[in-house]
Amino acid sequence: MAWNRKHLLDIQSLSADEITTILDTARAFKAVGRRAIKKVPALRGKTVINLFVEPSTRTRISFQLAAQRLTADIINFSAEVSSLRKGESLKDTTRNLEALNADIIIIRHSAAGAPHFLSRILKASVVNAGDGSHEHPTQALLDVFTMREKKGSLKDLNVTILGDILYSRVARSNIWALRKMGANVTLAGPATLVPRMFEKLGCRVVYDLKDAIADADVINILRIQHERQRKTMFPSIGEFSKMFGINKSRLDWTKEDTIIMHPGPINRGVEIDNDTADGERSVILEQVTNGLAIRMAVLFLVNGGQGPHEVTG
Ligand code: CP
Repeated sequence: MAWNRKHLLDIQSLSADEITTILDTARAFKAVGRRAIKKVPALRGKTVINLFVEPSTRTRISFQLAAQRLTADIINFSAEVSSLRKGESLKDTTRNLEALNADIIIIRHSAAGAPHFLSRILKASVVNAGDGSHEHPTQALLDVFTMREKKGSLKDLNVTILGDILYSRVARSNIWALRKMGANVTLAGPATLVPRMFEKLGCRVVYDLKDAIADADVINILRIQHERQRKTMFPSIGEFSKMFGINKSRLDWTKEDTIIMHPGPINRGVEIDNDTADGERSVILEQVTNGLAIRMAVLFLVNGGQGPHEVTG
């Protein structure tokens, strides 16, 4: 399956074949990462801008290293010290970046739809690194990559996504990716954060933790997105943790080979305890490692790469 998209804006508009192309390309790049010389010249002479208007650790650094591994020039744009603080619009800021011959603009923004807007006004490729509560496509891609690597196939895999679903772009992108790839998705958490409307996306919605995790092959745990909640959605952090937190004793409710995932940042002692986060079932840091390969694949593909067969160097 050849890739012919200029942008990566969301998972919703991708086909299962396109998702597979990204995963297979990432697998080839992960192999490159095991070599003594981890760089390839695929983006030599290209300019990549990391435009993060919201905080990030994993995604920003991962995209930066991905661009460097592909031999691109990378500029890290920090909103805090930019003219956005003086009232310059996103449109004007990005047009100025494009005037410096940016080839790929990676954007994280609190406004849902910001990457789609940029894709309509810029000539550069646009990659969504998280837009409001809407989507976080590369996070979902690294998540399904990790699941496929650990479990062999996504078809009929039972994946439970646990916690704050309503405000989570990670949840939305995961739901799209997992349903397209044939996985069964269960969503669980407080009713205020897991409305039944998600059943329309083909998910099972449950409010009992034991029921939610009993058959899970994968539990993907999400933090509470305080920065996006406009009102209190549950009585207290303590009560959320008591009702839906994953800890060592609750792992007894799961199958022996259930793996634990979390996109980060983790709030230890809230949605996950130390024993679980650092335990042998946890693949949380492997997710971070796989994120690098996924982001190399995405930058490579939106720049005109066709697929895994073209990964050389
Ligand atoms: N998972 C994730 O998006 O983490 P960052 O906010 O640190 O990029």
